Amino acid sequence: MSLSAAELRRVLGQFATGVTVVTTRHEGVPQGMTANSFTSVSLEPPLVLFCADKRARSGTIVGAARCFAVNVLAEDQRHLSDLFAGKGTDAERSALLAEIGQTAVTGAPVLPGSLGWLDCRLERAIDAGDHVVFLGEVVAASTGDPSAPLLYFRGAYRHLEPA
Ligand SMILES: Cc1cc2nc3c(=O)[nH]c(=O)nc-3n(C[C@H](O)[C@H](O)[C@H](O)COP(=O)(O)O)c2cc1C
Repeated sequence: MSLSAAELRRVLGQFATGVTVVTTRHEGVPQGMTANSFTSVSLEPPLVLFCADKRARSGTIVGAARCFAVNVLAEDQRHLSDLFAGKGTDAERSALLAEIGQTAVTGAPVLPGSLGWLDCRLERAIDAGDHVVFLGEVVAASTGDPSAPLLYFRGAYRHLEPA
């Protein structure tokens, strides 16, 4: 069966996800990117992963910094998702992260107002087609605001209807 990239993207878009901003810090400079490829992998030892397009500069920086933090976005943090998904310049993104100034163990920024964050040491970077899978060992984690999540489905942001 031959499957076009557009068709594959359409099918993958049927899977609803949350939205995260993955941050890192390399040579003192904070940086980040929006990612919905985050998933939990193992509780013992605590492992999580996200996948970055090989063209994503932040992914390359995570490989060099060997650490990252996953910040799970709340519904009212959509502007952060946009900023870290290409709308902001690198300078704007790192200025915001430097201004926030909050870190945990590795030095990767953690975002106030997020639903939770996981601070990770890079365990392994796995080459996977046009992406790199970044597997991280969680060294610190915290839940944050008890607000509603930012969701992504069929290429658009969504919100959770109250049950
Ligand atoms: C909701 C959403 C989820 C995204 N998830 C990913 C992802 O998991 N991996 C990825 O490489 N890019 C993802 N992107 C695209 C990147 O955020 C975007 O290309 C970003 O500008 C890459 O960062 P860079 O400036 O470091 O290259 C996503 C974008 C959006 C809006």
